[in-house]
Amino acid sequence: MKAAVIHGPGKITCDTVADPSIKDNRDAIIKVTATAICGSDLHMYSGGIPQPRPMVMGHEFMGIVEETGSAVTNLQRGDRVVVPFPIACGHCFFCEHELPGHCENSNPEHYGPEGGILTEKGGALFGYTDLYGGYDGGQAQYVRVPYADYGPRKVPDNLKDEEVLFLTDIFPTGYTGIDWGNVQGGESVAIFGSGPVGLMAAKSAWLRGAERVMIIDTLQYRLDKAVLTTGAETILWDGDAKDVIQQVRDKTNGRGADVCVDAVGFEPDRNILDRAKAVINLEKGSVKVLEACMSAVRRGGTVSVLGVYPMHYDNFPIGQFFDKGLIIKGGQAPAQKHIDTLLNYVAEGKVKLDDIITHRLSLTQVAHGYEIFKKKEDNCVKVVLDPWS
Ligand SMILES: NC(=O)c1ccc[n+]([C@@H]2O[C@H](COP(=O)([O-])OP(=O)(O)OC[C@H]3O[C@@H](n4cnc5c(N)ncnc54)[C@H](O)[C@@H]3O)[C@@H](O)[C@H]2O)c1
Ligand SMILES: [Zn+2]
Ligand SMILES: [Zn+2]
Repeated sequence: MKAAVIHGPGKITCDTVADPSIKDNRDAIIKVTATAICGSDLHMYSGGIPQPRPMVMGHEFMGIVEETGSAVTNLQRGDRVVVPFPIACGHCFFCEHELPGHCENSNPEHYGPEGGILTEKGGALFGYTDLYGGYDGGQAQYVRVPYADYGPRKVPDNLKDEEVLFLTDIFPTGYTGIDWGNVQGGESVAIFGSGPVGLMAAKSAWLRGAERVMIIDTLQYRLDKAVLTTGAETILWDGDAKDVIQQVRDKTNGRGADVCVDAVGFEPDRNILDRAKAVINLEKGSVKVLEACMSAVRRGGTVSVLGVYPMHYDNFPIGQFFDKGLIIKGGQAPAQKHIDTLLNYVAEGKVKLDDIITHRLSLTQVAHGYEIFKKKEDNCVKVVLDPWS
């Protein structure tokens, strides 16, 4: 089959690899009909989150059930499904507490309570390094889906692939940021990052009844996309973080937003000073967006950290956290927890997800897709790949 394979930083190519096969009676093989590139894939592509051996990329995919293991009774050949990105058993302590990203069974080699940089990681993810389970991903014509009696959800025939594809990751992820912020109606929400995750967080904030939604980015074209697809107020980060923080406070009676969402993570746009600081501190990337969130949120508010941070950082503002009495929640989003509610929202027409797509490419053009998404070229916001064209 054809698949997008990573061969080191900056090198993702469409290769011919062996077809996947059933290895466990809870597995299913899915024929992938649509798959997308995620901002998380960009961390592997940049080398910020390294992968030492070739691996099939991709954790945002959907398709048609081709084959099932004997224990998979809920799915049949021919069913059309979306697959949540965390690989989770459905039965362990964490799965039973609706925390599939922390599943105790899916990542046996590298799992542990510590959450270290190179050891004791969380549950497995599709196509997301050996440390996260070493499973091949879904930027491919076929994919093996473990625990297929727990993760995949059937989707109604009347909804097109592009209308439901983002239920695999970015819609549940954006929604999680708002859910962690306990948005119930009337709140102000400031979202840092107008990429796919930030846009989905903005859509979710409206769904949960937020009164004011602000979205911040360093790129004007991303903010223009936010206006078109979410109707949020926009703030351009084009210099000092202080200006952005002041603008958020000006819009919120001087207090700061009730909820701030970090939808950027450890690889923001950085100036020379940021880069020098990272070298001196032996750190990868920067924690500056998280720090901006902690400043822009009101006292007693919540910061939801959806952007990925794979390591530790010195000078983390623990004093500010304490003085302001903040709640900070982060981690892999529990996609399985929210997917059914969110599928209903889509089916009822309460939200539209496919308006963020800017590029539809063949899987054979995957190298180009990664390049324009990483470099933010050609007004790229979200790339969807067709494995069969
Ligand atoms: N927690 C989860 O479960 C989960 C799931 C999916 C993605 N993610 C993470 O979410 C993050 C965003 O993903 P994405 O797909 O939207 O990626 P993306 O790269 O398209 O979006 C990031 C956006 O941040 C903007 N940005 C850069 N520096 C900034 C700054 N200083 N201030 C404000 N904006 C800035 C970029 O211009 C870009 O628009 C990534 O770190 C990704 O790994 C997490
Ligand atoms: Zn993702
Ligand atoms: Zn589990």
